[in-house]
Amino acid sequence: MLFPEYRPRRMRQTKALRNMIRETRISPSDFIFPLFAVEGKNIKNPIPSMPGQFQLSVENIASMAAEAYKLGIPGIILFGIPNKKDSLGTEAYKKDGIVQKAIKAVKNRVPNITVITDVCLCEYTDHGHCGIVEKGKIDNDSTIDLLADAAVSHARAGADMVAPSDMMDGRVAEIRDRLDDNGFINIPIMAYSAKYHSAYYGPFREAANSAPKFGDRKTYQMDPANAMEAIREANMDVEEGADIIMVKPALSYLDIIYRVKTEIDLPIAAYNVSGEYSMIKAAAKLGFIDGEKVMMETLTSIKRAGADIILTYFAIEAAKKFGA
Ligand code: PBG
Ligand code: ZN
Repeated sequence: MLFPEYRPRRMRQTKALRNMIRETRISPSDFIFPLFAVEGKNIKNPIPSMPGQFQLSVENIASMAAEAYKLGIPGIILFGIPNKKDSLGTEAYKKDGIVQKAIKAVKNRVPNITVITDVCLCEYTDHGHCGIVEKGKIDNDSTIDLLADAAVSHARAGADMVAPSDMMDGRVAEIRDRLDDNGFINIPIMAYSAKYHSAYYGPFREAANSAPKFGDRKTYQMDPANAMEAIREANMDVEEGADIIMVKPALSYLDIIYRVKTEIDLPIAAYNVSGEYSMIKAAAKLGFIDGEKVMMETLTSIKRAGADIILTYFAIEAAKKFGA
C-alpha cells in the first residue's frame, strides 16, 4: 500500500467513516468497579489521593453497586478495611468480617451484579504484609491455607467470584481445592497472576490502610523488569485452575497484557490501578490535561493491548459517557 494510491486519510474524513473502521470499542460491560468497605453506618469518607472515590459503609457500598449496575457495569470488586488488625489477619476469614457483610448487603440490593472479592491478608494484618510473617519473612505455605479460608468464607457469604492478589506460590490450586471441597465448584477464580511490585499502588494503600509496616513486597510481587516471568506465572495459574488471568498494573505493563493475551487462552483482565487514576485526576485538576479525554484514551489503550476486562476506578465516570 503505497502513496499516492493508498491514502490512510481517506478513511478518516468523517465521523461515520472513522466509526466504521474503529478497531477497539470500550463499553461499560468491560468494566469492574473497585469498592472499599468500612465498618459503621452512613459512612462516605473521601479518599484524598483518589478524588471521587470513597471508603463506604456496607449500605453505601450496596447503593454504589446499584448505581454501577444501572449504568451497565456487570461487576464490582470488594476490598475490606477492618476495625481490628492482627498478625494472622483474622478478620479476612471471619464469618461476619467487613467484606462478608458487604457481600451480603450488595447481593440483597443488586442480586444480579457479579460480586468479586479481593482475597489477600494485607488489609487485615497488623504488619501490613500479604502473608504470615515468620522470623521476619513472609511464609508462603501457611499463608495459602489462610487465603483459602478467606476465599471459602467469601463464597459462603455469597460472593460470585474470588480474586487472590497476594502473589504467594500455589495459592490458586489451594483455593480451587478448598472451594471445591466446600461445594463451591461454580465459583470462578480471577487470579492476579502477573502482579508487579509497583509504586502505582501508593494511593490504594492509603485508601485501604494497608502499607507494609516493615520492608516491602519485593519477595512476593514481581520485578517490574520481567516479562517472561509473567508468562510463567500466568501458565502456572492456568494449570492450577484459574478462570481469568489478571495483569496489574495496566499502563506501564501494556506489553505484558499483550503478551499474556497472545500466549494464554483464558480471558485476560487488567487492573488500571490507583496511581494511574490519581495521576490523571491530579493532572486534570491542575489543568495540564483534559481528564475525561485522557480517561477514555487510557481505557481504550488497555483494551487495545488485549484486556477483555478492565478493573478501574473510572468505571462509573466512564460508563456515564455512554448514557447506558
Ligand atoms: C492487595 C491489593 C493491592 C491492590 C489490589 N489488591 C495493593 C498492594 O498489593 O499493595 C492495588 C490496587 C490499586 O493500587 O488500585 N494485595
Ligand atoms: Zn495484599
